[in-house]
Amino acid sequence: MTAPGTGTPLDDPETLRKRALAALLTARERTALLTSCVEDPELTAQHSPLMSPLVWDLAHIGNQEELWLLRTVAGRDAMRPDIDGLYDAFEHPRAERPSLPLLPPAEARSYAAEVRGRALDILESTAFQGTGAPLTEAGFAFGMIAQHEQQHDETMLITHQLRTGPVALTAPDPLPAPAFTGPAEVLVPGGPFTMGTSTEPWALDNERPAHARLVPPFFIDTTPVTNEAYQAFIADGGYTDRRWWAPEGWSHIRAHSIEAPQFWYRDGGQWLRRRFGATEVVPPDEPVLHVSWYEADAYARWAGRRLPSEAEWEKAARHDPETGRSTRYPWGDADPTPEHANLGQRHLRPAPAGSYPAGQSPLGVRQLIGDVWEWTSSDLLPYPGFSAFPYREYSEVFFGSEHKVLRGGSFAVDPVACRGTFRNWDYPVRRQIFSGFRTARDAGPDSA
Ligand code: AVJ
Ligand code: FE
Repeated sequence: MTAPGTGTPLDDPETLRKRALAALLTARERTALLTSCVEDPELTAQHSPLMSPLVWDLAHIGNQEELWLLRTVAGRDAMRPDIDGLYDAFEHPRAERPSLPLLPPAEARSYAAEVRGRALDILESTAFQGTGAPLTEAGFAFGMIAQHEQQHDETMLITHQLRTGPVALTAPDPLPAPAFTGPAEVLVPGGPFTMGTSTEPWALDNERPAHARLVPPFFIDTTPVTNEAYQAFIADGGYTDRRWWAPEGWSHIRAHSIEAPQFWYRDGGQWLRRRFGATEVVPPDEPVLHVSWYEADAYARWAGRRLPSEAEWEKAARHDPETGRSTRYPWGDADPTPEHANLGQRHLRPAPAGSYPAGQSPLGVRQLIGDVWEWTSSDLLPYPGFSAFPYREYSEVFFGSEHKVLRGGSFAVDPVACRGTFRNWDYPVRRQIFSGFRTARDAGPDSA
């Protein structure tokens, strides 16, 4: 099959094999950078109880690769049966991980490298088509493992942001964008659209299957909410006015004395923030970053608006009103390039609101992909017809009302782990993640 309109071959086995190889190599390059920019004591330290020591992520990346590619796909014996338990995310919560007898940095590196050497041989010799093995069909297991490593690369970048002291990670800033002059919101007409996917070869279980959703007409912000807009909420007493807050959000900000996004500090009349070890003035035109679901929800209520539901977000990002089809990305079916979106840690910050005109949706919504993860109003729930694959612990055990869905990916996520259907989730109090949001509002039936 070819993605309609672009010639993107989605299931030519040799193309997929090349993509899998490239994705695995790109991920490992990033992992190496994130774990070599600090000395060993910084790798084994816990920088926040919310995060693992970096050396845990490193060996866990290797361990998952061993589990799925070496043992499950290729039927090999465990290389280090003694360490499996240490790197099972469900056996030990993050706060406990520093006290475990983890592999020291040099051993973690050589373990991950040895697994990788064997995995590349397996990649070369595995059939991608017609074997009746769903795990390797279209190279799924290899795509899944590349995505897994990239997800941990984003996690490790979050850990670096939480570290105090200098962070030796650099990347050029995104180009300054002329102030966005388009409309502040667009109308997404009501009607059904196709949510989720049954054709994207490496889509994870929670993105499947494709199904019809009826979405009433709504308005959605053309760009993510900016620091400047968010500062107006703060200046208007947003954090001290109970009216705007969900009750649990209100208790949370009271209990933790939260009065601004994480990493922000007030300095006389202005807001500063700490970003990867350096302090800077909060840039007014950049999408707000490091806010919890509760903060996003409160801002939206203050603004007389609301968060978009997950279905609304995906309709805004994928539905092409001309053809009635859902595309892979807002701009169509082509894979992301640097002109489309701020992805892959090419820049270590979001781009100004209104950037990336080439990445906009047919209705003109910008920066749906990349820059900041966007909170939606929705709980993480399975789609109709969901079936856990290949393991319940990827998504199924998280379904329910405890987690809110985030969409679209951040500057820290690689394209292999980001698409119009990709679903992320977290607790509504969390904000160490690269999270922002945009707002929406109902449209009357007469605007449909
Ligand atoms: C989908 C980002 C919530 O980091 O907990 C990594 C991804 N799953 N290893 C997470 C994941 C297993 C997951 N999120
Ligand atoms: Fe993991």
